[in-house]
Amino acid sequence: MELDVPVGTAVVGCGRVSDAHIGAIKSQPGAGTLVAVVDQNLDLARATAEKYGAKHAFSSIEEALRVPEIEAFDLCLPNHLHGTATIQCLNGGRHVLVEKPMADDYETAVAMGRAADAAGKILAIGQSRRHGSAIRYVQDNMSSFGELRAIQASFCMYWDGPQAPWWAERTREEGLVFSLLGSHTIDFVQMVLGPHPLRVHAEAARLRDCWKAEDEALILLRYPNNKMATVHLSYNQQPFFERYCLLFDKSIVEVRDVNTVLVNDEVVFAPVEGATLLVTNELFTNQFAEFAAACRGLPNRSALHPHGIALMRVIDAALESSLKNQTVNLNW
Ligand SMILES: NC(=O)c1ccc[n+]([C@@H]2O[C@H](COP(=O)([O-])OP(=O)(O)OC[C@H]3O[C@@H](n4cnc5c(N)ncnc54)[C@H](O)[C@@H]3O)[C@@H](O)[C@H]2O)c1
Repeated sequence: MELDVPVGTAVVGCGRVSDAHIGAIKSQPGAGTLVAVVDQNLDLARATAEKYGAKHAFSSIEEALRVPEIEAFDLCLPNHLHGTATIQCLNGGRHVLVEKPMADDYETAVAMGRAADAAGKILAIGQSRRHGSAIRYVQDNMSSFGELRAIQASFCMYWDGPQAPWWAERTREEGLVFSLLGSHTIDFVQMVLGPHPLRVHAEAARLRDCWKAEDEALILLRYPNNKMATVHLSYNQQPFFERYCLLFDKSIVEVRDVNTVLVNDEVVFAPVEGATLLVTNELFTNQFAEFAAACRGLPNRSALHPHGIALMRVIDAALESSLKNQTVNLNW
């Protein structure tokens, strides 16, 4: 992508996922420039700045907000910080790409959306898996598959324990797989069936003691026009299993690992090389290009805040359903 002026960006949070975000910026100099990196651990921020050639390393967003070259913040922070950090950056007059899930709850997501509207800036959510080219293939060919009836979506994988310390602290009320995996999978369902399901029912379980919240969940979504979807989320599944099956009247479209598409069991879209890993460069590269396009007012496939807010409402409803053991009706 070649923009007239690449988007000057600060990446905040130099932990696990930050390499993918920084790599996406560095590999697309026509789309963005890495101006600064920020981490509360200043040594880590400095080491990251040196590794990737960022001009500045800071320990707080406040310091980065003083740099006029920074037009956008790319927030790779733990989930509970997404709300406050996003609002701080938007109030500072900057665009924001915030990692998924948008927030820890619907109310926070609404407040973030209000801040974006008030600032007149882009707020995009890092729904990286929607940027796989197989997902785009399905989106672009929807009308050729027939009449869609239902979706069966699964995102089931294995972690031997918390991958960041804050995973272990998440409570049942905050949710684990509902929030960390569900944000990806429900994003896909909502892209296809629309953002506004009528009813949500969910069951959850915790199979292992290394965390406090659910590591296994099944969600049933009822949409207008008699459409339905199931979403299965797990941190207990070996081998890795990520499938979205779209059941049309006369065909079955299956997306495997967000990189392969089969129609009636025949491969119609094959993965790009190296795209079988969980975190692929392609997803994050496409994601940043779409975000940069959004910042410049160009057409884009970003998950923008109105979609993100609806997604948070569905995640909250799934959590509520599983905790209260009842179906949640949604009035939009
Ligand atoms: N899209 C994906 O596929 C994907 C994959 C992994 C993680 N994520 C998301 O990315 C986010 C970050 O996850 P992670 O695994 O990289 O977490 P992490 O814990 O490895 O990294 C977070 C970093 O933020 C820093 N930090 C914490 N508080 C800070 C503050 N107040 N100011 C500045 N820096 C601060 C920490 O020092 C740490 O380096 C999460 O929201 C997670 O859900 C998304």
